[in-house]
Amino acid sequence: MGMEGSDRPEIQIVEDKKVEEREPGASRHGNFKNYYKFHPAEERVRQLPRGLWQLRKNERKYNALDVGCNAGNLTIELHKFLKEELSIDTDIQILGIDLDSNLIERARANTSDPSIHFECLDFFTEIRETAICSYLKELEREKFDVVFCFSITMWIHLNHGDEGLVKFLEEICQMTEMLVIEPQPWNCYRKASRRMRRGGEEDFPLINKLKLTGRMERHVEKIVCGEKCAFRQITTTQDNNWGRKILIFQRKQL
Ligand SMILES: C[S@@+](CC[C@H](N)C(=O)[O-])C[C@H]1O[C@@H](n2cnc3c(N)ncnc32)[C@H](O)[C@@H]1O
Repeated sequence: MGMEGSDRPEIQIVEDKKVEEREPGASRHGNFKNYYKFHPAEERVRQLPRGLWQLRKNERKYNALDVGCNAGNLTIELHKFLKEELSIDTDIQILGIDLDSNLIERARANTSDPSIHFECLDFFTEIRETAICSYLKELEREKFDVVFCFSITMWIHLNHGDEGLVKFLEEICQMTEMLVIEPQPWNCYRKASRRMRRGGEEDFPLINKLKLTGRMERHVEKIVCGEKCAFRQITTTQDNNWGRKILIFQRKQL
C-alpha cells in the first residue's frame, strides 16, 4: 500500500502527459501553447490550392494578414508558400496577429525574416484597427491582398456570439481582396465546451445562445457572400484528415 501511495503521483504525471500528447487541453480562446504538435503547419499549407495567388496589376508587393497566428508556425509556412506561388521578385509581407502575448513572443523568436511581422492584438479592440491601419499605411496599401483565418472563427463565435462572428467576418472583408477561412465544424464547439468543464473552468457563457449552429461553413459562406461583404466563393478544399475544409473567397469586381 505504501508503495502504491508514493507511486500514484508518478503514475498521474505519466497519465497527464499521455493525455496532453493526445489532445491540446482546455482553452478559452484557442491559445494552446503546443498547438503545432497536434496540427503541423506544413500539412495545413499543403491543403491550399495552387495557382490562385496573383499580384494586382502593376504591383510587385503582396501583403497578407494571418488572424490568430498562435506561435507563428503557420504564418511562416504561409509566407514560404506565397513565395513559391508568386514571381521571384515579389515583395511578400505577412503580419500575424494574436491576442496572447506569450505566443507572439514565441512567434517573433521563430523567425528573423524581416518580411514577417507579429503583433499582439485582440481583434475586438479599438487598438487593432489603428495598428493594422498604420501597418498598411507604412506599406502604402489600403487593403491586404489576402487575409488568412485558420481555426479562429469558433473562438470568436464562442466568446463574442453570433453578432461577434458576423462583425468579425464583415470587418475582415473590408480589409482584403481575398479571404481564406478554415472554420471549425460544430462538433468542435461541443468538444471545446466539454474540455472547459472537464478542466473545472467555466463553460462558454454564450454557447447555448448561439443561433448559427450546425454546418458552420454554410453560415460563413452566407455572411461573406452576402450583400454587405460582397465576396464570391472561388473554391472549397476537401476535408483534411481532421475534418476541416478551407473556404476561399474573392472580392466581387464592380
Ligand atoms: C486554434 S489557434 C489557431 C492558430 C492558427 N491560426 C492555425 O490555425 O494554425 C487560434 C488562435 O486564435 C487566437 N485568437 C482567438 N481569439 C482572438 C482574437 N479575438 N484576436 C486575436 N487572436 C485571437 C488564439 O489566441 C489562438 O492562438
